[in-house]
Amino acid sequence: MTQIPRAAVIGNPISHSLSPKLHGYWLKRYGLEGSYEALQVAEDALEATLHSLPAKGFVGANVTIPHKVSVLQFADQVTDRATLIGAANTLIFKADGRIFADNTDGYGFISNLRQGAPSWDPKAGPAAIFGAGGAARAVVVALIDAGVPEIVISNRTRPKAEALRDDFGARIRVVDWVQADTMVEDAMTVVNTTSLGMKGASDFKVSLDGLRKETVVTDIVYNPLKTPFLEAAEKRGCTTVDGLGMLLHQGVPGFERWFGHRPEVDEETRQAVLS
Ligand code: ATR
Repeated sequence: MTQIPRAAVIGNPISHSLSPKLHGYWLKRYGLEGSYEALQVAEDALEATLHSLPAKGFVGANVTIPHKVSVLQFADQVTDRATLIGAANTLIFKADGRIFADNTDGYGFISNLRQGAPSWDPKAGPAAIFGAGGAARAVVVALIDAGVPEIVISNRTRPKAEALRDDFGARIRVVDWVQADTMVEDAMTVVNTTSLGMKGASDFKVSLDGLRKETVVTDIVYNPLKTPFLEAAEKRGCTTVDGLGMLLHQGVPGFERWFGHRPEVDEETRQAVLS
């Protein structure tokens, strides 16, 4: 008897994760046999949990905070992009028990931009990034891969932006946080990767008055969908893309590998996850 494929999102805490809703919706929409659950796993239980899952019928998992970096040490094979980013969000459990780790955050980021702003051209000019945390790393790798000619980064804690520049090279320039508003003047792509503007967090206060209306602006924050950052960009006449699509698109490669069907990210998917 073939087992029904199981997958999960592993994190701590995990109750806030939208991934069970997303994958549950896709399983239902495509009439596929399978399950997707949320697993709360403490740091010291991560290795044992990972190794116990294949025998229970799990074919893979998503990994979220705080395990995205530490999970790499338990993987038998890591994709180049996950190695570059230094974190994984998607695992595939091979039939022989080996663990394959990938990072699809950058894929999700680019797919969201391409879907939300079809005329977006990464090569049209520099990209400006606010923030230099874990999410910024995935965004930087994805933008370099997409061919942006230059990346300008500003972060409250400047050394973290400098570390990104040191890791990813000559195409990156660091601007001090007190001058972060100047970054947007020449940028054709502008990204907020900080948690500013998220429900419950501080507001995004850097001025976006220098934005050109041709610039595509996106936020990785998706709660609220329309962040003050995106609102300010909209007022400048820019095309804006909210952060929900990044979360939805990053789930596509895992779902396809685990359940054998490439799922659609469309308005119906958004509504299912938001409901
Ligand atoms: P993630 O993995 O989601 O990027 P993170 O690594 O904690 O999360 O990074 C959060 C980002 O938001 C960082 O760039 C952080 O700036 P610092 O590196 O200076 O901490 C930024 N951030 C959070 N709160 C901020 C605030 N009040 N003002 C400016 N930046 C802030």
